[in-house]
Amino acid sequence: MQVLVTGVAGFIGAALTERLLARGDSVVGVDNCNDYYTPELKQARLARLEKQDGEFHFHRLDFADMAALEQALGGKAIDRIVHLGAQAGVRYSIENPAAYIQSNLVGHANLLEIARHRNVEHMVYASSSSVYGGNDKVPFSVDDRADNPVSLYAATKKADELMSETYSHLYRIPLTGLRFFTVYGPWGRPDMAYWKFTQSILGGRPITVFHKGEMWRDFTHIDDIIAGVIAVLDNAPADDGKAKAGGSTKPHALYNIGNNRSEKLTDLIAILEDACGRKAEIDWQPMQPGDVIRTYADIDAISNDLGYSPTTNIADGLPRFVEWYRDYHRV
Ligand SMILES: NC(=O)c1ccc[n+]([C@@H]2O[C@H](COP(=O)([O-])OP(=O)(O)OC[C@H]3O[C@@H](n4cnc5c(N)ncnc54)[C@H](O)[C@@H]3O)[C@@H](O)[C@H]2O)c1
Repeated sequence: MQVLVTGVAGFIGAALTERLLARGDSVVGVDNCNDYYTPELKQARLARLEKQDGEFHFHRLDFADMAALEQALGGKAIDRIVHLGAQAGVRYSIENPAAYIQSNLVGHANLLEIARHRNVEHMVYASSSSVYGGNDKVPFSVDDRADNPVSLYAATKKADELMSETYSHLYRIPLTGLRFFTVYGPWGRPDMAYWKFTQSILGGRPITVFHKGEMWRDFTHIDDIIAGVIAVLDNAPADDGKAKAGGSTKPHALYNIGNNRSEKLTDLIAILEDACGRKAEIDWQPMQPGDVIRTYADIDAISNDLGYSPTTNIADGLPRFVEWYRDYHRV
């Protein structure tokens, strides 16, 4: 099986590729290794993949550049695509909207075109829990309306879902969108709270906490995420006219992929303090534009259709992250 993975140097893309190579799939990976966060971490993830047994070909390119993408893929047959590359992050979308338009809109359209012209059997793509905006009905279900995004990041992810719906209608391409809920774990992302808090607590610096810590997130461990992505990838939605998760009658499914627990930010901090062996000094700040108070995933659809069943809670997963962090940074 030849799988094209975009965002392969990213947190989820690298972890997925490790698993695909281990089970014998060939992976063509693309990433532009941009400096939204430290490119050294992206290089380190790639170096691990290069060392692993299996067939892995990496192309450093911007997938918003269709000519570059076509040229790199050349005559290669692609069976499946997992499109994880994107400009991530809610707060940065307030500062730099253009990056989101290029990577998340132009880039997503390019990947849909690749899927169309190469007749791929399934393309799985990353959406986000942020499409639910300030939804106050919890947990968030794929049957809820998600038409009021509160950040441009969320709006681009929702637009990706809409473009995908049209492609599956017109060209009958099997597509699955995954709404990820705050993914964390070893080899994670330096722009996310669990990483910044760990860094500051270990460094003896104050952590910045917004909205008096009155915020809740559905934290999902990377191992659970990868198990879910693989289950989804191996089960393309059928073109049988029946309603799929998320409501489409085309071969297009949408799933939440979370842990089905909404954890208070202050509980996350307490676990990190324990794991780091130090108390955090807190710099309290007001709610940030674009942020939401709570996320909470209803995972019935993916559990019923594909047997997805997350097993790692933050009490176990966060100390494992801190252990990796200390080892990686030698602190
Ligand atoms: N990690 C989470 O908690 C989370 C939550 C919701 C949604 N998501 C989505 O999941 C996907 C993967 O997220 P991640 O946490 O691995 O993020 P990440 O930033 O670690 O990985 C994304 C990768 O895409 C690459 N990239 C960005 N724009 C590109 C472009 N134009 N051309 C080529 N490469 C490009 C980046 O260099 C990066 O390595 C993203 O689509 C993200 O929006 C992640």
